[in-house]
Amino acid sequence: MSNFIENANWRYATKKFDTTKKVSEKDLATLKEAIRLSASSFGLQPYKVILVENPELRAKLQSASWGQAQIVEASHLVVFANITNFSEQHVDEYFDNLTTTREIQMEAVQGYKDFVKNFINTLPVDVKNIWTSKQTYIALSNLLNAAAELKIDVTPMEGFEPQKYNEILGLNELGLNASLVATIGYRHEEDGLQHLKKVRKSEKELFLTL
Ligand SMILES: Cc1cc2nc3c(=O)[nH]c(=O)nc-3n(C[C@H](O)[C@H](O)[C@H](O)COP(=O)(O)O)c2cc1C
Repeated sequence: MSNFIENANWRYATKKFDTTKKVSEKDLATLKEAIRLSASSFGLQPYKVILVENPELRAKLQSASWGQAQIVEASHLVVFANITNFSEQHVDEYFDNLTTTREIQMEAVQGYKDFVKNFINTLPVDVKNIWTSKQTYIALSNLLNAAAELKIDVTPMEGFEPQKYNEILGLNELGLNASLVATIGYRHEEDGLQHLKKVRKSEKELFLTL
């Protein structure tokens, strides 16, 4: 566990990436697996994770991201996109996966499946979209922590215009919405932020014991 805390202190939201350093395919595969294994509400993983490799797309996205340089300078750019209007069909897909993976009959989980469908059907569309978007933050957190263990830098980013992202990446047509961005790579030695002390609430301020 001491490593976890050390890594959490090592990582920081990188502003300037070293454009000469690329994350290897092997490390990228590990990071993707960390994302894939993320917990989610009911296990539904109501999102897609998009790796944007096309430089032209990345340049367009930069102008939809407050001009932030990480979008084009980082080794990799990931967009977490929540599924909009998550439906019974998505729940069916999850339960098909569950019953196949665990080699059980659908009847064994029918009651639970109905419960999940009922839950999503009671949510107004806007609330449901907030709920699916929230799940992407858990995946982002897994990415941050896994990357830190590999001494790879990740900047979580909310500083972008989701509607422009949706247009540029054609996400509306896919029933997706850009929820969160992460830039992945290696810090530039000139990024002064890496030397600054972490600013966090004290334990006393953050925790409440009742
Ligand atoms: C959801 C989220 C969105 C963020 N958006 C941006 C962003 O758009 N650009 C940026 O440079 N940093 C962004 N940050 C980084 C935070 O500013 C940073 O995590 C925070 O100041 C704590 O510092 P540290 O991560 O370096 O320890 C974001 C962080 C989170 C968790």
